[in-house]
Amino acid sequence: MISYMKSEVGIIGLGAIGGAFLTNISEKGFACIGYDKETSRYGRLRQRAKGAEFAVSLDEFFERLEKPRRVIMFLPHDKVDEAVESLVSYLRESDVLIDAGNSHFLQTEKRISFFNARGLEFAGVGVSGGIEGALKGASIMFGGKEETYRLFFEIFEASSAKFNGESCQALVGKGASGHLVKMVHNGIEYGLMELIAEVYQILRKAYGFSNSEIANIFAVWNKGELNSFLIEITSKILHKKDNETGQDLIDVISDAADQKGTGKWTVKTAVDSNVAIPTIDAAVSMRIISSLRKQRERLASVFNKTKAEGASNLQIEALEKALLLGFIATYEQGFSLIRAVSRQKGYDCDLAKIAKIWRAGCIIRSGLLNKICRVFEDESNEIFISRLFLEQVKEAYNDLKRVCVFALERGYPLMALTASFNYLNAISSLRLPTNLIQAQRDFFGNHGYERIDQKGIFHTLW
Ligand code: 6PG
Repeated sequence: MISYMKSEVGIIGLGAIGGAFLTNISEKGFACIGYDKETSRYGRLRQRAKGAEFAVSLDEFFERLEKPRRVIMFLPHDKVDEAVESLVSYLRESDVLIDAGNSHFLQTEKRISFFNARGLEFAGVGVSGGIEGALKGASIMFGGKEETYRLFFEIFEASSAKFNGESCQALVGKGASGHLVKMVHNGIEYGLMELIAEVYQILRKAYGFSNSEIANIFAVWNKGELNSFLIEITSKILHKKDNETGQDLIDVISDAADQKGTGKWTVKTAVDSNVAIPTIDAAVSMRIISSLRKQRERLASVFNKTKAEGASNLQIEALEKALLLGFIATYEQGFSLIRAVSRQKGYDCDLAKIAKIWRAGCIIRSGLLNKICRVFEDESNEIFISRLFLEQVKEAYNDLKRVCVFALERGYPLMALTASFNYLNAISSLRLPTNLIQAQRDFFGNHGYERIDQKGIFHTLW
């Protein structure tokens, strides 16, 4: 009988992200073993993940793991149930199965209960940073029990990104909070991407700048307050030439934007939790509209919008400030959602910690997060009205207004920028016109209304 050195951790699902993560931890010196139903993936991976072992069956995989067995799955969310079904019989008390994919946090809650009822541990962990992050350092959002987290601490500490030496992994809260936080991270990602696309549209159409000129503008912005991964890659994207035609690659890419679902989940969760996240909502709507190619073509042929009139007097700096305020509004909405769901579910999420581990490694990393982190650490306050942001918000408000007016006059779709502007307007309004909605509800449905001058519920025979 062959005796193997046991592995400290096992990785299931060796697609792009799982394979990169296995490579990362094997390079960090962890004794690890990988398993994938498609063993054809092992060939190339063996070259990269040199220290890793590979199992040809689940029997071998579990046999070669030291106890308690620590298993991390990197699977598409719709493959998790099937995987859990095949894995559960191998697991024994004290073993832990981690789902490090993009699962819905409510599914993760159900799986935690299922496991706990059998004396087993299951945890949902958000991992962001794409393939590069999984390979070189991701942002890792662990949700669950402190003792389970401790079992994986060293692995995640070693494999996570670092911000000024601080690692971007943490226990973000209880229960399924890891997947809640990752889902909202993705919702924020949708918002920021749509805001950037809208500003790109203005620079391209109204100013008539070339893609490389816009790339240079984004590169300059990336050195200022907008410093972020998404602005950085936008600049790189806009410089890229197409190998086939020699044109700017961006100009030959279809405008139908795809989505895997985490943005939609964020919006649904927000509605269910009574939290308004209009910028993220707008971004999801734009992805949906972008895919309606035929409908857009039909309408475009009959619906004449105002013709663009050139750049006029809108300053580029106003666009920068407007985009910055859009970013702030998106983060504000995302954190509000995490705060609300965390309270409803008793997850006890630590917002400062979350902002901290989003400062490097993940897709939404940005200089703003460092400031947001200080807001939550120092004041545990809302972002907009915090000492660190209020003046900046006030100043950028007029720029955002100018940009919205400018682009709307030209008939550009501006869902996310206007949503951010309207959000700020609405949440800073002392009196909204929703008194009329209350009156209408009472008119047609006897729903009653409250008065501003007396206590109680009133009803009128209209
Ligand atoms: C990350 C990304 C990652 C993935 C998105 C893409 O944090 O590393 O968010 O999870 O790229 O899920 O999402 P869409 O396909 O929905 O745009």
